[in-house]
Amino acid sequence: MMRKKTTIPDILQMKQEGRRITVLTAYDFPFARLVDGGGVDLILVGDSAGVVVAGHDTTLPVTMDEMIYHVKAVRRAEPKALVVADMPFMSCQTGIEDACRNCGRMIKEGGAEAVKIEGGTNMAHVIRAVASIDIPVMGHIGLTPQSIHRMGGYKVQGRKDQGERIVEDALAVEAAGAFSVVLEGIPSRLAARISAELSIPTIGIGAGPACDGQVLVIHDILGLCEKYSPKFVKRYADLGPVISEAVRQYVSEVRSGEFPDEEHSFS
Ligand code: KIV
Repeated sequence: MMRKKTTIPDILQMKQEGRRITVLTAYDFPFARLVDGGGVDLILVGDSAGVVVAGHDTTLPVTMDEMIYHVKAVRRAEPKALVVADMPFMSCQTGIEDACRNCGRMIKEGGAEAVKIEGGTNMAHVIRAVASIDIPVMGHIGLTPQSIHRMGGYKVQGRKDQGERIVEDALAVEAAGAFSVVLEGIPSRLAARISAELSIPTIGIGAGPACDGQVLVIHDILGLCEKYSPKFVKRYADLGPVISEAVRQYVSEVRSGEFPDEEHSFS
């Protein structure tokens, strides 16, 4: 049976029906095809591209133009999964007008079907404005990588008496009109409480099993990111050594004259 395109109402319905939502990142055409072929419900074009593709230490340097480039490449794969684009640092932080214009660019130029904005109570006014012009917004609270300097590193958020602040963020994001919210790097029990309290789906990453869906970075699950491997990442394949071996073989065959042979040459 032909798979139908996933829509925002489909994602909302999945929570109502208790069906778990599957999300992976992709940043280019080949990975978008592979990830979509694997059957995910939603592709996140994350600003994690800045780390796993561009080699930065944080997501902070990522620009609007870079994100639009990645979103366009993903959309060219014509995925059935819903395509959500991450709003990079400083694209939404300077006020409602900039946020609406930049989120609009992501939809109009990039072809994204929704955007993701980091921040809770502090960004609720922005989420409200963007959602009010019919751009679906996914929230992102807890460990928000764009807040690395405030947090003093990628540290679990919401432990002990800090939990209430995360709950407030979740409620603010929902009230502002987000269609879903990423819960990153928070204790499982807190994520379970938020998932039960919200009517919109929660998508967890390092937030335990009780979320309505899960997201991971594709390079992490394939063993393509050597830089760091957080506790919440499960490696489903180890492609690094496979790729290195293929490259080694190519180099050796070119040097020895074994490649190209007749089969790979024109007469
Ligand atoms: O940038 C990203 O990939 C993300 C997810 C890991 C949630 O924000």
